[in-house]
Amino acid sequence: ATERTLSIIKPDAVAKNAIGDIYRRFENAGLKIVAAKMLHLSREKAEGFYAEHKERPFFGDLVGFMISGPVMVQVLEGENAIAKNRELMGATNPKEAEAGTIRADFAESIDANAVHGSDSSDSAKREVAYFFDDDEICPRG
Ligand code: CMP
Repeated sequence: ATERTLSIIKPDAVAKNAIGDIYRRFENAGLKIVAAKMLHLSREKAEGFYAEHKERPFFGDLVGFMISGPVMVQVLEGENAIAKNRELMGATNPKEAEAGTIRADFAESIDANAVHGSDSSDSAKREVAYFFDDDEICPRG
């Protein structure tokens, strides 16, 4: 089915000037960018986004990293977009990411891991709505 998923290019990959390379991978895989914005997240915005991880030991480092520089946030649309994006990203820990994935090519560590992607249909709906109003999304069929 056609799905939408939320993608974030994290501060490490933005700093490496890798936005275009990563967008090319999305588009080559048939995913369409139907909304996008660059943001420097506030601590509150980052904490709210990652609220489900609040009790995890890595929460403070994760939030600190996510507000360390601008991020590029986009909605990807396409057939099986959620799983397809996760395939393109590779494993959360770049040491475990398959060759040729975004994280294998750009990520340095489990925190500075280049990209985020929604992990389920429920989280995709929540995460898209967290960053975009309906009228900021431009479906292209
Ligand atoms: P992301 O997909 O953005 O979702 C939560 C983030 O927490 C994850 O990517 C990692 O960058 C970061 N993180 C740091 N340590 C861990 C860990 N032990 N397990 C999962 N995620 C971690």
